[in-house]
Amino acid sequence: MDFAATLQQYVARVESGLDRHLPAANTRPARLHEAMRYSLQAGGKRLRPVLILAVSDLVSNAQSKIENLSAAALAKADPKSKIADALPAAVAIECLHTYSLIHDDLPCMDNDDLRRGRPTAHRQFDEATALLAGDALLTHAFGLLAVAYADQPALAHALIRELADAAGSRRLIGGQMADLLAEKQANATNEELEFIHLNKTAAMLEAALVMGGLIGRANEDDLNSLRLAGRHLGLAFQIIDDVLDATVDTTTLGKTAGKDAKADKTTFVKLHGLEKSRALASEHSNRALLAFRQLPGDTGFLAALISSMASRAR
Ligand code: IPE
Ligand code: IPE
Ligand code: MG
Ligand code: MG
Ligand code: MG
Repeated sequence: MDFAATLQQYVARVESGLDRHLPAANTRPARLHEAMRYSLQAGGKRLRPVLILAVSDLVSNAQSKIENLSAAALAKADPKSKIADALPAAVAIECLHTYSLIHDDLPCMDNDDLRRGRPTAHRQFDEATALLAGDALLTHAFGLLAVAYADQPALAHALIRELADAAGSRRLIGGQMADLLAEKQANATNEELEFIHLNKTAAMLEAALVMGGLIGRANEDDLNSLRLAGRHLGLAFQIIDDVLDATVDTTTLGKTAGKDAKADKTTFVKLHGLEKSRALASEHSNRALLAFRQLPGDTGFLAALISSMASRAR
């Protein structure tokens, strides 16, 4: 397997899916639809959608699918169903992730001027347009799942529920709230820090892996392995994000460097320092890799993707 070439193919599929599954930029009101595309099409690593595509390929290709419990349950509910196209789900999760970034950057939250190497949505447009573009991307994600998987209602239901749980007030939004509440806190605990990271970041990575599994018809054991992998990948991913914020320049990051220290955020770097944070990130990456090894089939691409995230520069 050529990791770089395979990744490039997956990312290219995501980019074309984003273009295809979003309202055209000139849809009325054009300013809103332009803003949605501006933030979404600015690039980004596309990690969550690539995970959905790669996991659904892995699981649907695996031998074990024949005696697969979830598949049997889904097939019973949707007798004529075949393995569904994972691309709409990949687009949906990237819409949701991008909404969370637009809102994360707003002056009332992290107050950031740069995202994905471009002015943030509220800088390029204005605050109200950025707020509404975020709202619209969030809503579009669920509409897309409902429409694209309408011929497999059990799958549509499972995907919508998974994404709603991950993006809701107990997880992504709850993590964002806790992140803001923990600003300038002198005595934040490890437990509070883990709550923030598990929810603002790991929830969506977990959802990406599980949604890929649902589309590829993973059995319960495999879904559990995917969930565990997502938890550790998510913790590793956010710890590294905290380390990069403290160590990499703004141009390389494509977002403002050093802003966590400036806002006095509760991060791994603040609580544990750089060296221990790096060690913890690699511990969680390794645990994610171990969980992946429980899955059937050739997990080479996913293992390489996780390793590449551990050594990323942005
Ligand atoms: C940024 O996510 C927000 C975090 C959860 C750390 P990414 O680092 O995946 O950002 P993009 O999508 O590549 O821009
Ligand atoms: C935000 O974490 C994670 C989200 C849910 C958007 P950060 O605030 O650290 O993300 P960046 O560094 O701005 O991308
Ligand atoms: Mg934030
Ligand atoms: Mg931020
Ligand atoms: Mg950050």
